[in-house]
Amino acid sequence: MMTVYGTRPEAIKVAPVVTALAASDALDGITVVTGQHREMLDQVNAVFGIRPEHDLDVMSHGQSLSQIFTRVMARLDDVLTVEQPDAVLVQGDTTTSTAAAMAAFNRRIPVVHLEAGLRSGDLTSPFPEEANRRLTTQITDLHLAPTAMSRDNLLREGVRPETVVVTGNTVIDALLDVVDRPALFQDPAVAAVAARGGALLLVTTHRRENWGLPMRNIGAALGALADAFPWLTVVLPAHRNPLVRDAVLPAVRGRSNVVITEPLCYSDFVHLTARATVVLTDSGGVQEEAPSLGKPVLVMRDNTERPEAVDAGTVRLVGTDARRIVGEVSHLLTDTNAYGRMARAVNPYGDGRAAARSVAALAELLGVGSRIDEFRAAPVLAALPSLAV
Ligand code: UD1
Ligand code: UDP
Repeated sequence: MMTVYGTRPEAIKVAPVVTALAASDALDGITVVTGQHREMLDQVNAVFGIRPEHDLDVMSHGQSLSQIFTRVMARLDDVLTVEQPDAVLVQGDTTTSTAAAMAAFNRRIPVVHLEAGLRSGDLTSPFPEEANRRLTTQITDLHLAPTAMSRDNLLREGVRPETVVVTGNTVIDALLDVVDRPALFQDPAVAAVAARGGALLLVTTHRRENWGLPMRNIGAALGALADAFPWLTVVLPAHRNPLVRDAVLPAVRGRSNVVITEPLCYSDFVHLTARATVVLTDSGGVQEEAPSLGKPVLVMRDNTERPEAVDAGTVRLVGTDARRIVGEVSHLLTDTNAYGRMARAVNPYGDGRAAARSVAALAELLGVGSRIDEFRAAPVLAALPSLAV
């Protein structure tokens, strides 16, 4: 059973599956990284103690989507020839994910899609992820859907029901693993912020469709918020992409209450999320994690493929207009009732057993086991003492 992944979010979400495969008697796991991300990928593997057997090392600065796609396909093809896996698991909607699925499909190797069935309904947003995930669906043999909504998306598109298993999202397995570890912040600036107390706005941004003007607007909004609320600390772990840094950082630098860091290791990021007052992001994974920690999430996008936490009231779409972002964050920081309505721990995405369900479904696919009970979302997460902040 081969797992292929290449970026930070894929690494976080496959880590529980890779670990469960290593512990499985029925299945032999083999791990391949494409290296679409370099530092941010290696950081996650280090946190989870994963040492991949193969590294395709495809990252180059300024890489185009087609360069990533073709390098992954060509280099993975060589590894598939050598290893001849019984199935290949890919995660999510990155270029690594779809290119790896295509490479396996071309060799008639069954494809397993982890986090299958997410849909925004708009091919241009997120770009190119909405197209990637739809393409992968077409060549997938086993669809591991995180929620009932994602399963229903697949069934509406004509996917055969017996090929879909609702597992919950493995990101919650990863989160629960890490949140239970001691909050020993590796980044000294973050350790100082966490120790200081007071209101904290945690921000991440990287989406391709936000490059350029939307990201400059995000930078302007962060600068305005830091100036308007001197008692607020804004923490921005900056994505490694130079295009992101060039757009966002000029408008926020030089303020004593703005802390700009390198990408944080997963453990630091999770513990900082638990310490945050409000989370402002265009990330997919952060939309899933922060609700579990009872944190209001303002999403700097116009749509989402993750409507479950929006429906639960913990996530709100705010777009990328600077005035709107400033208004929405200000409202949460100054209106206790509005804050209280959003700051509820809800867990529509998982219960920490997604990897176990995934490995059981893989064993069934390969004829050496059978699937277990599917994930059902509880409406509200009961007390998780270690998550208290
Ligand atoms: C990729 C995924 C996106 C995912 C995101 C998570 C695609 C098309 N996009 O977007 O779905 O949400 O990762 O962060 O697959 N870089 C480094 N070091 C790193 C990582 C990135 O230097 O560890 C720089 C490189 O210059 C690289 C650039 O960032 O060329 C962009 O990386 P890329 O993987 O092309 O796209 P992301 O925008 O990160
Ligand atoms: N994350 C991290 N360090 C950071 C910022 C984010 O470990 O400095 C984690 C975060 O907890 C989440 C994942 O990275 O699990 C999200 O990755 P990203 O936003 O890059 O991609 P997306 O989820 O949007 O595809």
